[in-house]
Amino acid sequence: NWTAASFIDDAIQRIRARVGKDRVLLALSGGVDSAVTAALIHRAIGDQLTPVFVDTGLLREGEPETVREVFGRHFHMNLVSIDASERFLTRLRGVTDPEQKRKIVGAEFVSVFEDAAARHGPFRFLAQGTLYPDVIESATPRDSKTAAKIKTHHNVGGLPEDLQFELLEPVRMLFKDEVRAVGRLLGLPEEIVQRQPFPGPGLAVRILGEVTPERLKPLRRADAIVRQEIEAAGLGDDVWQFFAVLLPVKSTGVMGDQRTYADVCAIRAVTSEDAMTADWARLPHDLLARMSNRIVNEVPGINRVVYDITSKPPGTIEWE
Ligand code: XMP
Repeated sequence: NWTAASFIDDAIQRIRARVGKDRVLLALSGGVDSAVTAALIHRAIGDQLTPVFVDTGLLREGEPETVREVFGRHFHMNLVSIDASERFLTRLRGVTDPEQKRKIVGAEFVSVFEDAAARHGPFRFLAQGTLYPDVIESATPRDSKTAAKIKTHHNVGGLPEDLQFELLEPVRMLFKDEVRAVGRLLGLPEEIVQRQPFPGPGLAVRILGEVTPERLKPLRRADAIVRQEIEAAGLGDDVWQFFAVLLPVKSTGVMGDQRTYADVCAIRAVTSEDAMTADWARLPHDLLARMSNRIVNEVPGINRVVYDITSKPPGTIEWE
């Protein structure tokens, strides 16, 4: 029977045997799969692993700091951390079409990552946090038949096939709950082990309309408030995903005795088993009230909050 401890021992032996004295490159996204893959490989071969973290400028509040803290300072990995936010934001300037945003972020990611690989190489292996459901999915591409027709999915680490590396996928036989158990045993913090699914294009697809620094700032704040309040209410484990979306709409409001004309933010919270279908979460009204009050009072530029009550289908979880 499967235990995280015996899996780790076994995986370490296999990684050492396969890698030998060669070097391994890995794209760290901040998500649980690549994090556990990095921790496992690092335990096996130490500094022969080079994890690369690309800060796209499109992550949520606190995430780049957490990645640097955990992998750089705590695990003492040979972390290559690249702040590419200006590059991404420059490419995204003026772009409002969701598919266009997804393509730009995906292509830019590959280009930044390839630069890093060339600069810090040579590497024989590319490690990826592929899980068993991803393996099944690519055999009968669930995504390409359904979801990808709707949206071009981009995974950090989902790099083009023509890169000159051998793939190292030590968690490819695991399910999500198993990879979480392995991560915990390897000493990863709960904020990484329990991280919600997050789209590769990041906040670019949660800001409807143009993505600018001026719009990222309020969205990040509003999103952090949504996450804090749902966690504080003890509902973090019951809700599959919860986040804020910034709408390309302004509305009139009143603050004190002043008329305001500012942005509208939507809260999205869904329950789901596998993200293929989802229902909007029946959050308590007073929790919704707290989030709304805090956002309007604490986030300059947002004067109205709405709650998304659309299921999937016909809606999708993300708004773009
Ligand atoms: P939708 O919005 O299609 O999302 O209902 C289903 C699940 O996939 C996540 N998502 C993505 N994940 N790259 C990813 O790795 C992407 O481009 C992407 N787009 C959406 C979404 O957060 C939800 O969990």
